[in-house]
Amino acid sequence: MDSIGSLGLQQGEGAPSCPQEGLPCPSNSSEMVQECLQQFKVTGAQLRQIQTSLLGSMEQALRGQVGPAPAVRMLPTYVGSTPHGTEKGDFVVLELGATGASLRVLWVTLTGIEGHKVEPRSQEFVIPQEVMLGPGQQLFDFAARCLSEFLDVLPVDNQGLQLGFSFSFPCHQTGLDKSTLISWTKGFKCSDVEGQDVVQLLRDAIQRQGAYSIDVVAVVNDTVGTMMGCEPGVGPCEVGLVVDTGTNACYMEEARHVAVLDEDRGRVCISIEWGSFSDEGALGPVQTIFDHTLDHESLNPGAQRFEKMIGGLYLGELVRLVLVHLAQRGVLFGGHTSPVLRSQGSILLEHVAEMEEFLSVLRETVMLLAPNCDVSFIPSVDGGGRGVAMVTAVAARLAAHRRLLEETLAPFRLTREQLAEVQAQMREAMAKGLQGEASSLRMLPTYVRATPDGSERGDFLALDLGGTNFRVLLVRVTTGGVQISSQIYSIPECVAQGSGQQLFDHIVDCIVDFQQKQGLSGQSLPLGFTFSFPCRQMGLDQGILLNWTKGFNASDCEGQDVVCLLREAIRRRQAVELNVVAIVNDTVGTMMSCGYEDPHCEVGLIVGTGTNVCYMEELRNVASVDGDSGQMCINTEWGAFGDDGSLSMLSTRFDASVDQASINPGKQRFEKMISGMYLGEIVRHILLHLTSLGVLFRGQQTQRLQTRDIFKTKFLSEIESDSLALRQVRAILEDLGLPLTSDDALMVLEVCQAVSQRAAQLCGAGVAAVVEKIRENRGLEELTISVGVDGTLYKLHPHFSSLVAATVRELAPRCVVTFLQSEDGSGKGAALVTAVACRLAQRTRI
Ligand code: G6P
Ligand code: BGC
Ligand code: BGC
Repeated sequence: MDSIGSLGLQQGEGAPSCPQEGLPCPSNSSEMVQECLQQFKVTGAQLRQIQTSLLGSMEQALRGQVGPAPAVRMLPTYVGSTPHGTEKGDFVVLELGATGASLRVLWVTLTGIEGHKVEPRSQEFVIPQEVMLGPGQQLFDFAARCLSEFLDVLPVDNQGLQLGFSFSFPCHQTGLDKSTLISWTKGFKCSDVEGQDVVQLLRDAIQRQGAYSIDVVAVVNDTVGTMMGCEPGVGPCEVGLVVDTGTNACYMEEARHVAVLDEDRGRVCISIEWGSFSDEGALGPVQTIFDHTLDHESLNPGAQRFEKMIGGLYLGELVRLVLVHLAQRGVLFGGHTSPVLRSQGSILLEHVAEMEEFLSVLRETVMLLAPNCDVSFIPSVDGGGRGVAMVTAVAARLAAHRRLLEETLAPFRLTREQLAEVQAQMREAMAKGLQGEASSLRMLPTYVRATPDGSERGDFLALDLGGTNFRVLLVRVTTGGVQISSQIYSIPECVAQGSGQQLFDHIVDCIVDFQQKQGLSGQSLPLGFTFSFPCRQMGLDQGILLNWTKGFNASDCEGQDVVCLLREAIRRRQAVELNVVAIVNDTVGTMMSCGYEDPHCEVGLIVGTGTNVCYMEELRNVASVDGDSGQMCINTEWGAFGDDGSLSMLSTRFDASVDQASINPGKQRFEKMISGMYLGEIVRHILLHLTSLGVLFRGQQTQRLQTRDIFKTKFLSEIESDSLALRQVRAILEDLGLPLTSDDALMVLEVCQAVSQRAAQLCGAGVAAVVEKIRENRGLEELTISVGVDGTLYKLHPHFSSLVAATVRELAPRCVVTFLQSEDGSGKGAALVTAVACRLAQRTRI
């Protein structure tokens, strides 16, 4: 203990009288001292009760069951593993709040080689009392000045300095470099900091100071720094304990126990913030009148009650209160106190602490209360500075990864101007295509001139080929509405990419099978054929396949009339002659199907395996069809938009890779940026790139990721579903054979979001071009119109439809567009086109 002289008292000074009136004179001084000190004794039973209660509070807080003033906070840090030992680099560490009223700056070099340590350089700065209690900005400006002063004498450049901020107060951390101060403790009380992100405050101050360009990469509690910087003993160091000015501990907890994390694997370091532990039941019996007085006179009465019984800031003060008490009772200093003794804070920790003894009592107590745990206590050598540097090294690596991710995804984030440009180019390509000029949009007439009027009746067969499923349908149109029976048949890839004859024979086999099952054998019903590929039609029942798309590539079909190919197959199979009345694109089938319910439906949109749009155009604008009055449905075949190079500004290296690896390179460039068949492939190519940069999967290429088409549209939709926790995202990816960390899962999610968002926006820009054209065709100020939509991507993706709608609102503000989802597929529409044709034919015959 320091000399009592510093308190302005002399041993034996003054008369041994009682200074305060009414106080009994001590009959036996040493008895009174003993009696007073007795209050500080804690029994084994009391310690056990505190242990149980603290554990209960910890578990409750982990489960997220906390009252308005939680006993302990159990704050997740963003530290998920203890050091690998491979961390390396030079780091600046700023410590605030660990040791009393001082601030420390360190220069830490991590060598990345185990056992090879370079001594850190450090400097301590005393924080003036008025700064500790003044405006927050003043404190952070002070810190920035200390940093500059420290760096000024080091031989460092002002470039790329990376800083770890050890900030030892209770904080809600939301990232490695984001942390909101909950409340000050330990004698700090600066205004305008509680509720603020302390990293930002420090960054602002460094910028105001202007001397150095320093990147604040991580923020760490002192307990975490202590744990991370500890030399591993027998096992890894998994607990950090600080008993300094304040007190706290952190430890590695199983992530599945931490309710707020929504993570079931791995571990995370939790800062207990036990300083605020204050269970009246457990602590009450061991609290003395001195503890109550100390709390009452502190800057934060009622708070940090446990810390106030342990932390160095308070121990000296407790001793002072006891001395004053004993002096006032005449037991000490001849009953005299001095102004110094009476002033708060005049006895400091170093006056009273015996560290050796503290450590041995600590050890004994832990052994007593946790007899089954073999605990080694390893004193931290450099106050946690190395540990902070290690966390900073990890954070710096993650931040660099994030920058690479952002750079990679930047070309996918389209501006409004870029989207408006897409819309304008689409308009131009539409006009040229209609005029028969060179254009990537073919603008194919469909010979569909009217939507159903409700008077159609009869039974029809329909085929639906070109989407995820091949279907055969029986459609009954009656006064009561439309009834459908259908069956799905598979088209094996070898058939889709085999010979044309094989493909059409397979189709006829399926029709025959369906007829048998439906009891329709021998009947020749009118048939509508939804054929979802670009066809040049010369009439309703003639369609020359221009080219295959979407993974189909059957030989000897391109340039042929598909209806003839079907009829030939029927003959080959000697099946019952079918009456093929109409060949219909899926967009047209969808528009007709939705048009049966809503007469405003004059556009058909598909966003599924492929993508396309059709709409009702004025016949006078269609150069290739005679006649000037009335309308005709035009199949835009917008999937091919950009095949003339007009989208090259938007096309990324990943689009180019997907295109090159496809069976139709250079073709369907717009479709390849939008539709379900390709989005997963774009994602896969981005993931391969990020892995090669070391950003994902620890830089290790897996065989699975090299596999084409492992990402189906359905995975994209699942991964982006809002209700899905990150761990479920990880599970989906693990099912695909991709073992990844939570960081990886988050990045994969961001990649999916960027790719599908671009797809939806491009699709929206296209729809905006179409509806604006219709509005202008009709010379309307405002157009109210409905769009019938189908396709797995549009229907299953959680955000696609709303992003399309938002883009259309933005780019075509004078069109009020309603999107109707087709419920029955386009086969129903094909049957309705057939029904209309039959009705018109009947009328002609009459
Ligand atoms: C429709 C059809 C399909 C069409 C599909 C697009 O309703 O009946 O033939 O091609 O939707 O969706 P998909 O996602 O299956 O390609
Ligand atoms: C703070 C903790 C800190 C501890 C030790 C407490 O007052 O709330 O965050 O770890 O002191 O410095
Ligand atoms: C085809 C279109 C079809 C679209 C949607 C494209 O690949 O070329 O005819 O409408 O896919 O299925």
